[in-house]
Amino acid sequence: MASENLTYQTGFANDFATEALPGALPVGRNSPQKAPYGLYAEQISGTAFTAPRHCNRRSWTYRIRPASMHGSFSAWAQPHWLSEFGAGPLTPEQLRWSPLPMPTAPTDFVEGFFSMAGAGGAAAGGGIGISLYAANRDMDGRFFCNADAEMLIVPQLGRLRLATELGVLEIEPQQIAVIPRGIRFAVTLPDGQARGYVCENYGALLRLPDLGPIGSNGLANPRDFETPVAAYEDREGAFELIHKFQGGFWRADLGHSPLDVVAWHGNYAPYRYDLRRFNTIGSISYDHPDPSIFLVLHSPSDTPGVSNLDFVIFGPRILAMQDTFRPPWFHRNVASEFMGLVHGAYDAKAEGFMPGGASLHNGMSGHGPDAATFEKASNADLSRPDVITDTMAFMFESRHVIRPLEQALQAPHRQKDYVQCWAGLRKHFDPTCR
Ligand SMILES: [Fe+2]
Repeated sequence: MASENLTYQTGFANDFATEALPGALPVGRNSPQKAPYGLYAEQISGTAFTAPRHCNRRSWTYRIRPASMHGSFSAWAQPHWLSEFGAGPLTPEQLRWSPLPMPTAPTDFVEGFFSMAGAGGAAAGGGIGISLYAANRDMDGRFFCNADAEMLIVPQLGRLRLATELGVLEIEPQQIAVIPRGIRFAVTLPDGQARGYVCENYGALLRLPDLGPIGSNGLANPRDFETPVAAYEDREGAFELIHKFQGGFWRADLGHSPLDVVAWHGNYAPYRYDLRRFNTIGSISYDHPDPSIFLVLHSPSDTPGVSNLDFVIFGPRILAMQDTFRPPWFHRNVASEFMGLVHGAYDAKAEGFMPGGASLHNGMSGHGPDAATFEKASNADLSRPDVITDTMAFMFESRHVIRPLEQALQAPHRQKDYVQCWAGLRKHFDPTCR
């Protein structure tokens, strides 16, 4: 790797410009007759050429060899990373899982995927695919490309070093990374093992939400998004490319590292964000605003205000609302919600929802705090604020029904008694006592 001291550029989807060698980036034109240093010029477009300027994403790369140079593709198997979410009967039951067990055999990031649920797909041009990963070895001589979706990676255990065509990102739990669709990368594990969540986004690219009456600051601030600077490898050897395309996996021989981009400019690039920098907005009088105030990134749909994917976090915050049941409320809604827990405890559940675990509440399935949390919060002293410090839960939320996969329903780490967490909610109603 050319650069071990990682450097980042800040801003969300800015028009970045970066070069690992002085003068490698052509000035004034994207595709000169001869690029500097004998490099090839290659554009990668993440949106239609004609997409409106405010959502058009593309980058120009200047690289040692073009991306077309690899051997023929042959089928490759990853039987637990699935992209077909089925059309059969679907339970409306609330679902919850314990953490995915760590592998016992050597398993890299791509091999360690275990898909849980999803909707739509690459062919449909919309929807999401949700997987867990658990890995204990580096991708060694192997590079991966997801032609189906951009990947939102949420680590829960262990750091990830994401060496991409456009530079190197390192993330730890409570940070996230987004790898754009089609960008090649390799994952190594600085801590020797790693576990977390990935959402593949088949719809419009993730973007920052508008802020409306909140104003120009707050939620996730653009300056806190970090994009790597150019860092290239000039390596030849017996490497392989694993390519995910329309839900299938393919492999091809590569005689060189594809991470050979010496300079690039544009706004189609991987990025990371530290969830602890989220500026949480909340009520300072009574009641809760809707959880849309916890929105970090979203993938809009064709209907204004309705998302293909919302990435929402429930992090540290102060609850000071008066005459208010302060934990997340009981509710049902049109959206479907897949939750995970990165760190600490989630304030709507007393037990059972562990870091690395997951829950799924599909559209109009009732859910909310468990019995123990309800009793405690209903009798809490509201004269002082609740300062919640040790938590980082998140939600992949979608307008689509999130269909659980059979392997997730049958998985040993599923908690089949989850609905019992509400069984202890007592009847308090007394028509003679207001
Ligand atoms: Fe919910």
